[in-house]
Amino acid sequence: MLVLAIETSCDETSAAVLRTPEMGTLTSGSCPPSVEMGTRPPKLGTAQEGGTKGTGPHSEAAAPEILSNVILSQDEVHAPYGGVVPELASRQHIKTIAAIVGEALTRAGVELPAIDLYAVTQGPGLIGSLLVGLSFAKGLAYYHRKPLIGVDHLEAHLEACFLENPAIAYPSLGLLVSGGHTALYLKEEPLTYKLLGKTRDDAAGEALDKIAKFLGLGYPGGPVIEKLAKGGDPKAFPFAVPRTKDHSLDFSFSGLKTAALKLIRENGIAKDGPRLPDFLASFEEIVARSLVDHVRAAADQVQPRSLILCGGVARNTRLRTRFQDYARRAGIDAYVPSPKLCTDNAAMVGAVAIKRFGARPELEPDLDLDAFAR
Ligand code: KG4
Ligand code: ZN
Repeated sequence: MLVLAIETSCDETSAAVLRTPEMGTLTSGSCPPSVEMGTRPPKLGTAQEGGTKGTGPHSEAAAPEILSNVILSQDEVHAPYGGVVPELASRQHIKTIAAIVGEALTRAGVELPAIDLYAVTQGPGLIGSLLVGLSFAKGLAYYHRKPLIGVDHLEAHLEACFLENPAIAYPSLGLLVSGGHTALYLKEEPLTYKLLGKTRDDAAGEALDKIAKFLGLGYPGGPVIEKLAKGGDPKAFPFAVPRTKDHSLDFSFSGLKTAALKLIRENGIAKDGPRLPDFLASFEEIVARSLVDHVRAAADQVQPRSLILCGGVARNTRLRTRFQDYARRAGIDAYVPSPKLCTDNAAMVGAVAIKRFGARPELEPDLDLDAFAR
């Protein structure tokens, strides 16, 4: 089975073609129940029913093959503003979506009539951006009379790990760290998710982006901070690990951001100043330590058999290292997707759709499938 997936939730236009492991084995009952078209995908945050156990043909033991995964970043469009400008993002998606889908098909060596299933990010994200991908996918699915599955963007980030490691053991504890979200999930079996804690204010990526913007370092902030922090002393500046007062598994990064701004002013940290690498290394270190502290606290509570780190910030080497160091000490298997699968991409969207798809040949694309912002 061939799947064409589209992702336009924020500032990346992406399309991917995936092939399921055993073509033609997708028979009724072998897969988790499909999402009714025209409805919202099961929302992350509450325990969801509906997964397969065991080792059927589409269990987590076999991953789909990524034939192509084309990603066009809009960084250059938004960089002058120090953050994503929603109106510019949707306009850019409109300009590029046809070419990106075409490129994904070409690289996969596949033509549209061969696609069996369409997948598209439904939300959360920027409504204008989501609607571009959603409308494009609906048009294709409608014209070719093929099923269309709407996918939750956060679920797709968590799924990215399974594309490279399909046999990850359950229960799995997932830390999702992106520009818009920072949350911990417990995945007890395929397609089931339970929210354990989330940020009460800024997401970790947002905090990195805001500090970079304040220092005039450019957008997105995470990669530029990582680059400029190289060689800096991570202990040079005295940041305290942020904690929520009730010691829940929720995160909070706004206090850390305020502390960082205070240190910048007090110590005259500037874009070209000599102490910039030390300051950025200290800030990066405290963000990574805070995230891993939460993983440790959650793991103590839920005793997972595996750990997952995902989302754009998971590209960060310091965070990956701290995360893997902790996992090694705790004796738990840890998984982090390769960098390309951490940031927004359509392959992870297709991966969720494949798991959700049940053999429903009578299914018609439903033009009511709607985008959701949060
Ligand atoms: O998952 P993602 O591509 O988009 C959202 O769904 O938000 O994540 C984007 C975030 C941005 O905040 C960006 O600064 C951060 O990921 N990021 C990084 C790195 N690469 C991207 N943060 C730290 N280090 C990196 N190397
Ligand atoms: Zn994302």
